[in-house]
Amino acid sequence: MNHQDTVAHASLHIREKLGNIQAGTWGLVLGSGLGPVAEAITSAQDIPYTEIPGLPQTGVAGHGGFLRSGRLGGRPVLAFCGRVHLYEGYSPQDVCLPVRALGNLGVGTIVLTNAAGALNPGFDAGCLMLITDHINMTGQNPLTGPNIEAFGPRFPDMGQAWCPALLALARRTALELKLPVERGVYIQITGPSLETPAETRAYRHLGADAIGMSTAIEAIAARHMGLRLLGVSCLTNKNTPDCMEKISHEEVLRMAGRTAEDMARLLKAIAAAPEPGNA
Ligand code: HPA
Repeated sequence: MNHQDTVAHASLHIREKLGNIQAGTWGLVLGSGLGPVAEAITSAQDIPYTEIPGLPQTGVAGHGGFLRSGRLGGRPVLAFCGRVHLYEGYSPQDVCLPVRALGNLGVGTIVLTNAAGALNPGFDAGCLMLITDHINMTGQNPLTGPNIEAFGPRFPDMGQAWCPALLALARRTALELKLPVERGVYIQITGPSLETPAETRAYRHLGADAIGMSTAIEAIAARHMGLRLLGVSCLTNKNTPDCMEKISHEEVLRMAGRTAEDMARLLKAIAAAPEPGNA
C-alpha cells in the first residue's frame, strides 16, 4: 500500500470509530511524559494505536500509544498520545502519519508538543517554550520522493511555519495564567544519542533555543497540507556546553511530567479561546 493509501486507510478507520469530525476540532500530538495533557481531555474516547491500521506502534517508555477524542477547554480535540521517532528506525512518513491523518480528517489546526533540552542559557528547565520557528537538523524530510499532490505542493513555503496568531494567543493566555513561557527556535536532531558539548555549542550558534528528537518533520508535513501550527516544548533540562550535566531519559520524563501540568493548563485555556483569524 502506498503512503497516501495508508493515510486514507487510517483516517477512514478513525472516522468509522468516532463518526464525523466536528468543525473547529484541533489535533494534538503529545510527546514524552505529557500524560497530564491527555488527562485534561474530558468526555474522552480512546482508540489504541494497535487498532489503527498502518499506524506505527510506540515502543518508548513515557509514550502512550492511543488516540484520544474528547474536549479540551470545551473545544473538540483529537489527541495522538505518544509518537514514534526517527531514532526507533521509523521513516519520516511513519513519523508523520498521525499529522497527515489529522489533515485528512479535516482538522485545520494542530498543536505539536514535545520535551526538549534548553540550549538558550537564559531558559530554565521546568519552563514551557512556545515554538516560533524550527531547524530540521535530521537530514531527512517527509516530502522526499514523488510529491503527493493531494497533500500539498511540491515546494511548500516555510516562511511562517508556526502560526503567528496562535503564537500571540498562546503568549497572551500564558500571561493571563501567570505561567512563565519562553519563545524560541526548536531544532530537531535524529538522536538517540544526546549532544556532545561541541554539538550543543554548534546548534546554539545556528540559532536554536531548544533541542529535541521530534516535531520539525511533523511540522513540515503539517504545513505541506496547509494546517495551522502551534508548538509548545516542555524544557526538561538545560543543555549548555560549559556546564554539561548528564541527561537521563528518566529525568527528562520526570521533568516533562511536572511541566506537563502547566502545559495542560495552558493548552486548555488556549483551546477555550475563539480561534484567532489568520495574521
Ligand atoms: N537533547 C535532545 N533531546 C532532548 C533533550 C536534550 O537535551 N531533552 C529532551 N529531549
